[in-house]
Amino acid sequence: MSDPVIVTSALPYANGPIHFGHIVGAYLPADVYVRFRRMCGDDVHFLCGTDEHGVAITLKAEKEGVAYPDYVDHWHERIHRTLQRFGIEFDAFSGTASHRNEHHAPLAQQFFTDLLRNGWLVEREEEQFFSESTQRFLPDRYVEGTCYLCGYDKARGDECPRCGKFLESKRLLEPRSTIDGSRPVLKSSKHWYLDLGRARDEWLRAWFLGKHGQWKPNVENFVLGDLAELRERPITRDLPWGVPVPLPGTAGKVLYVWFDAPIGYLSISKQYFAKRGEPERFEKLWRSPNTRLFHFIGKDNITFHAVIFPAMLKGTGRGWILPENVPANEFFNFEGRKFNTSSGWFVPESSVADDPTDVLRWALCSMMPETADSEWTWSEFQARVNGDLADNLGNFVTRTLRFVEKFFEGAIPPRSGETLAQDKALDDAAVRTVAEVREHFGSFRFRRALAAILALGGECNRYFDAEQPWVLVKQTPTRRRAGDVMHACCRMIDLLAVLIAPVMPATARLIRRAMHRESVPLAFASIAPRHEFPNEGIRGAPLTTVFPKFRDERGEEKTALFRKVTDERVASERARLAELASAAVAPAPATTVSPTKSPAEALAATVDYEGFTAVDLRAATIVAAERHPKADRLLVLRVDLGFQTRTIVAGIAASYSPEELVGRRVIAVANLAPRTLRGVESQGMLLAGDDAGGKPRLLAPDAATPDGVRVR
Ligand code: 2FM
Ligand code: ZN
Repeated sequence: MSDPVIVTSALPYANGPIHFGHIVGAYLPADVYVRFRRMCGDDVHFLCGTDEHGVAITLKAEKEGVAYPDYVDHWHERIHRTLQRFGIEFDAFSGTASHRNEHHAPLAQQFFTDLLRNGWLVEREEEQFFSESTQRFLPDRYVEGTCYLCGYDKARGDECPRCGKFLESKRLLEPRSTIDGSRPVLKSSKHWYLDLGRARDEWLRAWFLGKHGQWKPNVENFVLGDLAELRERPITRDLPWGVPVPLPGTAGKVLYVWFDAPIGYLSISKQYFAKRGEPERFEKLWRSPNTRLFHFIGKDNITFHAVIFPAMLKGTGRGWILPENVPANEFFNFEGRKFNTSSGWFVPESSVADDPTDVLRWALCSMMPETADSEWTWSEFQARVNGDLADNLGNFVTRTLRFVEKFFEGAIPPRSGETLAQDKALDDAAVRTVAEVREHFGSFRFRRALAAILALGGECNRYFDAEQPWVLVKQTPTRRRAGDVMHACCRMIDLLAVLIAPVMPATARLIRRAMHRESVPLAFASIAPRHEFPNEGIRGAPLTTVFPKFRDERGEEKTALFRKVTDERVASERARLAELASAAVAPAPATTVSPTKSPAEALAATVDYEGFTAVDLRAATIVAAERHPKADRLLVLRVDLGFQTRTIVAGIAASYSPEELVGRRVIAVANLAPRTLRGVESQGMLLAGDDAGGKPRLLAPDAATPDGVRVR
């Protein structure tokens, strides 16, 4: 038996719905990977559950007047249902609240005492807001007041919604408790901090650097940045809900949610193995150097899983295993914006109610933000479903099986034994594709796996077209060749079913059923390089009994593996979004502006604050400049952004010579997607305005603002 594998997905907060961004970030890739590893014969345990402590949860539960356990139960159920809708099948889906998982608090407390005993925790007294009326300490988000930076009078203790700056709650002017509006006082409280800087210097950095090249580059780069800035982090809070600090005299103190949450992976395992009647396996697996541990997460959780949690695991001294890989994804947006469930900017369940789970899984996998941010658009969805699934894979499967049904009475014809060059070429393509797909699934490059599958689907369709079985089958001397062509096509379908199974398990099973091969396991382990069907042929069930039936856009009854997405559907989804967007950017009321003069260029539509902050502007300096080899209007610049030097192509040759630009301060758009301008990739843009003659002039930051500082 191969080494056991533990796969986890980030524990979602039990305080709101999860959307496509979550699914594609941490749950779908994990599920695909688990199915793939199992198809390779591995012993995999796939664990998840809800993250049920923390201020975000206490605040919302209190606001709604619901007891904490009831509140988290509600979201636990709802989140689980959403995950099931996407075919995510965990071995255990539990949580961190004690009423759901009796192992969690004791294990989290054991982590605390282990770390304390081993000297990784630092104790400090600090002043914190305390509400005398309710006799409780107030974490930052329980305090509101006037922002000491911009004067906004509804700033939160941790950040100001108007100026967007992080705040120190103790400096708020006119502070008040969000519970009852009373003015809090400062009172001293004891807390514990995890000494991450020491962990980094003693072993963490070396451990991480030893993995160089094995993790995805986006994750490696992120962690490298983190390591440089590691410092002590508080691991306790004063809060009425959470895992109590296991020390005398600490009533009212709990472990910080970020500390107890990842321990959930262990406590959920413990509960899972206990339920299976093999409790000893929990420690055996989590302490065996042979166990392979993978954490699937979104970008915002990299620090916790790749840096802090390993520091916690190792610091206990109990020999818990560390992750082999943390294949984090980048951010996933929706039609050009961040998903936002409260403003309606997400894909509602009703919009995809008729889409089979497999179709959504395929589309999401093909858009996955594996190495860079990506987005769901309705036109992309249409292209993936209609192009990849219906026209490529679905078309090949249905045309072949229909042909077998019509001309060979539903029995896959036996092979005559003659192999032509084109048959061998198809076989070779299949062998190559199997190897590629295995490699890509195994290294978390799901998009590339899908592309390789589609390339084989394309080859198969071309083979069918070129061989023209519909001509061959009509005459007795060539009918045998038509049978050979169908045999080859059916072998390809059988193999495609294996390749798609991690992403589209139900479709893979359906294909196998259509071919009367449902008893043959869908396994990578069993794909022999040029496998053949038994030569007596296999009887296929009539297609029409197993494949979905529906009415197409012309109202005609159809049987096919996949149903196309219509233009009308895309248009109506877009219309819904346009309405939402225009509601969000409605012009400000006339009373707020007093125009004395029209601007030369019409004012652009209003953007909300979030829209503005989406653009990352940085103070920077041009360090080199030259003319673009292929365009008179353009200059190719090297621009130092403080943390990185980039090439930026700018259309400013009419205003500046390269020489006069070196050393010049500029403002750069640092998060613009790269674009190639006449053969040179531009990794950003510089801010400029036109002079009176319409020529571009660069805008500059104040001399006191160093390179790399974000412009707000
Ligand atoms: O970002 C989140 O949704 C967190 N609740 C993830 C926690 S993952 C792990 F630490 F449990
Ligand atoms: Zn402010």
